Formats: sequence, C-alpha cells, structure tokens
Amino acid sequence: MAKLLEVKNLKTQFFTQDGVVHAVNGITYSVGAGETVAIVGESGSGKSVGVMSLIRLIPQPPGKIVDGEVWFDGEDLLKLSEEELRKIRGNRIAMIFQDPMTSLNPVLTIGRQITEALELHLDMNKDQARKRAVELLDLVGIPGADARLDDYPHQFSGGMRQRVMIAMGLSCNPQLLIADEPTTALDVTIQAQIVDLVNRLKNELGMAIIWITHDLGVVAGMAERVIVMYSGYIVEESPVHSIYSDPRHPYTVGLLRSIPRLDLGRQKRLIPIEGLPPDLLEAPTQCPFAPRCAYAEEKCWQENPSLELVAPDHKSACWPAQRGVTTWEVPVAAPAQALRDEQSLPAHTLEQVQTDIMNAVDPGAGGLEVDIAMIEHNKETSAHSGVEGR
Ligand SMILES: Nc1ncnc2c1ncn2[C@@H]1O[C@H](COP(=O)(O)OP(=O)(O)O)[C@@H](O)[C@H]1O
Ligand code: SF4
Ligand SMILES: [Mg+2]
Repeated sequence: MAKLLEVKNLKTQFFTQDGVVHAVNGITYSVGAGETVAIVGESGSGKSVGVMSLIRLIPQPPGKIVDGEVWFDGEDLLKLSEEELRKIRGNRIAMIFQDPMTSLNPVLTIGRQITEALELHLDMNKDQARKRAVELLDLVGIPGADARLDDYPHQFSGGMRQRVMIAMGLSCNPQLLIADEPTTALDVTIQAQIVDLVNRLKNELGMAIIWITHDLGVVAGMAERVIVMYSGYIVEESPVHSIYSDPRHPYTVGLLRSIPRLDLGRQKRLIPIEGLPPDLLEAPTQCPFAPRCAYAEEKCWQENPSLELVAPDHKSACWPAQRGVTTWEVPVAAPAQALRDEQSLPAHTLEQVQTDIMNAVDPGAGGLEVDIAMIEHNKETSAHSGVEGR
C-alpha cells in the first residue's frame, strides 16, 4: 500500500507555568492510501495533540512542535507556509472532533456551513454547492436533506450533528479523514451507526482514516491497523487482529481487559487498569508504564524501551516483549478484585475478551457493547485505587 502519510519522530510540548508538558514524545508511524488506522489510549496519552500537530492546529504558545517531520503526499507539512497548509486543511485532510456542537457555528445554518467550504476549496457556485450539500447530507443518512439544510445546529440531535460534521469533513473528498473520538459523546446505538456509516463511506470514497478512541472495543470492526499510545509514546503497533489475539504490551492487555463483556450485561464488566496515568511534566527515563505494570523488572525502571519489531508487522516498546515474551496474564489487583466480587462477576480472562471481540467484529450489527458510563465509572475506580508498584 502506497504511503499517504508518514510521521517521523514527531515531538510536541507545552511550555506552561508549571513546566514543560511532554505531550507527544517522538512518534513515528505511517498511514497507507485508503487505510484505516486506529489510535487508542487512555485520556491524556497524547492522541489529540499528536494528530493536531500533523496539521499544526496546536495553540502556539504554549504549544510547540519541537521536532519531527510529517510527510503527506510528498510534502513535509511542518515546512509549509500557513497559506499552503490552509489549502490542505479541511480539503485534502479533514478532521472531525468529539463534540460537534463546539465545531459547528451555532448562528449559521447547516447548509451555509457546508456550502462555504465547497465554494472556498472547490470553487463551486452557490447552486452547485447547495446541490452537493444535499448529496452529502443524503450520503450520511440525514432524512429530508434538502429541507434540513436551512436548519441551525441546535435543531439537530447529537447523532445527527455528528453526521453533519462527517458530511462537512467529506465535502471536499479528502484523502485523509482524521476522526478524534467522534462517537464518544454519543449513546451506544448511535455510536454503532456512526461507525457503520464511516465504514460504508470509506468503501465508497476510498479515503484513508485515522480514528482516535480510548476504547479498544470500538476499533475491532473498522481499523486495519492499531496504534496504542501511552504517555505520549507509541507503545504498540500491529494489524488489528493481532492486537486482540496476540497483544505484545502489558498496557494493551490492560486495555483489552477493560473492554465490556457482552455476556455480562451493562452493569457488569471491566477490570480497570490500576494506577494513575503518568505525570507528563517529567520526561521519563524509565518505561512510562512501569509504575502500573505487573511485569516491571529492574531494567524497566532504568531505561525507557523504544518501539521495536517483535513479530512480523508488529511492534512493541516493552523489554520482556522484545525478549520474546508473548503471554500476559496480568493478575487482577485487589481493588478491581473487590469490585468484581461485589458484583459477583465470573472470572474475566483475556481469552474471554478476545473471543468476544472476535465474535463481534461487526459493530454495525450492534455486536459490540460499549458503555461510556461504565468506562467513566472505571476511570474513577482506577483513579481512587492509587498507584501500584513501588
Ligand atoms: N493547551 C495545552 N496546554 C498545556 N497542556 C496541554 C494542552 N493541550 C494538551 N495538553 C496536554 O497534553 C497531554 C496530551 O493531551 P491530549 O493529546 O489531549 O490527550 P488525549 O487526546 O490522548 O486524551 C495532556 O497531558 C494534556 O494535558
Ligand atoms: S517495559 Fe517493563 S514496565 Fe514497561 S510495559 Fe514492559 S514489562 Fe512493563
Ligand atoms: Mg483527545
């Protein structure tokens, strides 16, 4: 697959009163033309800053891209003038965000917001732009598209607004669509519909997608490759099937174990990853996951492993994984165990999670149950459980 995007050693920091926030610490990856890559990780792991840096949407100051290259279709985006970059943003690279309400202008009709981009980037006249806008709303499944063009954002439901955002993202036939947690604020059913929609559009339009999520469950049915981020680093990267069947980083195993179990129902699920996400004010000299890792060994506290191939097409930034360790049965730690006992849950093994995922790779069919409330609940639970390790 020809490479559309090549990110090399991208490093972004925020220079704040409290010190330097090491948000993205030298990440390298690529996206092929027409490929869907998912970027997964807990909140604060640098996913958004990483993709915003690609098109230089970082607030500067306090932010600064301190190193790296971003090759898109033969050009280094970090070297382009602001003017040249504007022609690429929203045109050849489109971005959709988590909360459509903050990205849509509340005082302009939906129609105006879509046609503006078409007139600007594609040189269409008003009639052509309106016709295309109707086609786009049709494409993303908004009923009565023609009439709805004259409505304002607040007249749409959350799911419909996200569809509008996708329509706007697609308006200029981008080569790359970056979707930053586009379904996180939506309920489960709508979430599945949006994933389904994006899958269908991708097949029809052939664009590449970077899909960001904190939930590994969501990507099973849509991505070809998964990048796992922790603490501003890529800690694992592999084709989607091996991330579920053969994870090679303890953090990924933790994420897998925190995916909802289908057979346990909504309220009963999840083993949260113990401990708190790291403080990004310090550049780590150790493995950043060490304080939360059940496998940490002496070397992990002394040296931060770089991302290396551990199997064909499969990279991991973990010392034992790089030595060939492939089995990760992380023992359930005490607070999570207590939570589980309280809810009388059956054991929740990695294999069960893997089986669920494999059986449910079609989220459009409603196979995957993703419950945001429970994810929040578990975040709280893990936040209260304190840092494990030393
Ligand atoms: N404007 C900013 N000023 C200071 N720190 C920021 C700013 N934006 C993001 N960060 C920090 O960068 C880190 C990565 O954030 P982000 O990329 O938004 O995480 P994610 O998208 O994975 O949840 C976080 O620690 C966050 O606090
Ligand atoms: S390098 Fe060590 S601490 Fe880091 S994830 Fe691997 S085993 Fe855990
Ligand atoms: Mg984010």
